[in-house]
Amino acid sequence: MSYRNISKEALVGSLAVGVVFVAGYVLGKKKSFRMSISKSHTGGKDNPLMQYVLNHSLREHPVLKNLRLRTMQDSWNIMMVACEQAQFMANLAKLIQAKKALEIGVYTGYNTLNMALSLPEDGVVVACDISEEYTNIGKPFWKEAGVEHKIDLRIQPALQTLDELLSSGQAETFDFVFIDADKVNYDNYYEKSLLLLRKGGIIAIDNVLWGGRVLNPSPNDADTVAIDKLNKKLHRDIRVTLSMLTVGDGLTLAMKL
Ligand SMILES: C[S@@+](CC[C@H](N)C(=O)[O-])C[C@H]1O[C@@H](n2cnc3c(N)ncnc32)[C@H](O)[C@@H]1O
Ligand SMILES: *[C@@H]1O[C@H](CO)[C@@H](O)[C@H](O)[C@H]1NC(C)=O
Repeated sequence: MSYRNISKEALVGSLAVGVVFVAGYVLGKKKSFRMSISKSHTGGKDNPLMQYVLNHSLREHPVLKNLRLRTMQDSWNIMMVACEQAQFMANLAKLIQAKKALEIGVYTGYNTLNMALSLPEDGVVVACDISEEYTNIGKPFWKEAGVEHKIDLRIQPALQTLDELLSSGQAETFDFVFIDADKVNYDNYYEKSLLLLRKGGIIAIDNVLWGGRVLNPSPNDADTVAIDKLNKKLHRDIRVTLSMLTVGDGLTLAMKL
């Protein structure tokens, strides 16, 4: 089907290029509204085209699906990566024949599990989080899926783990990094990840549109300021190739040159 046969509205919805819609959501007790590009398990629920995309492309391992359903029962489920985004990143990792991946911000480990499932038998995901409460939700599913041995979980501030990896001689050995933890440290995560990455390796950075708030960053909003600042820096960073995708809450892909 050519683009001409699709209504303008549908096309805008399907590509979601530059288009944001207001989605209200509840974060714990704090209720806030934000602009969001549709994400499968949050804003995309009422979007038939997003449903179509999922119906015709998602190939979710049965245990991964169960982890998603379990994660949906948690009050912080808005933090989970979009499943179509996780699948895309796993495909990218396969494409570059990744063996060694780094996850900065694990939560219940939906993406960590998906990555572990797609890496070869001798592959590893170094998974960084500070919360045992969240990661303990995921662990039984990692085990059930038979890839527990590929997941090296480090419960401590991610910066500390990255420094330990660097000082133990693992610079230039990682193939794929997913940055998805506290936003104020995004630039630090990016710089250390770049050192850990081999040439041709990929850094994927989540939430680069931050619900649309990057359009008008308030000086008091440290998270938005940090994301916007990194976005601007990456645009002129000649150490990497660059793409900013409108999948999920915005995903930047940077390949190390
Ligand atoms: C958006 S969630 C990660 C979602 C996950 N990538 C997924 O696939 O669903 C962010 C996570 O970062 C963790 N986090 C926050 N600050 C951190 C820090 N300084 N070091 C490591 N993890 C941190 C939080 O505990 C939370 O689990
Ligand atoms: C997607 O699949 C669900 C479940 O089979 C179905 O109810 C829904 O109509 C489908 N939607 C689209 C747009 O394909």
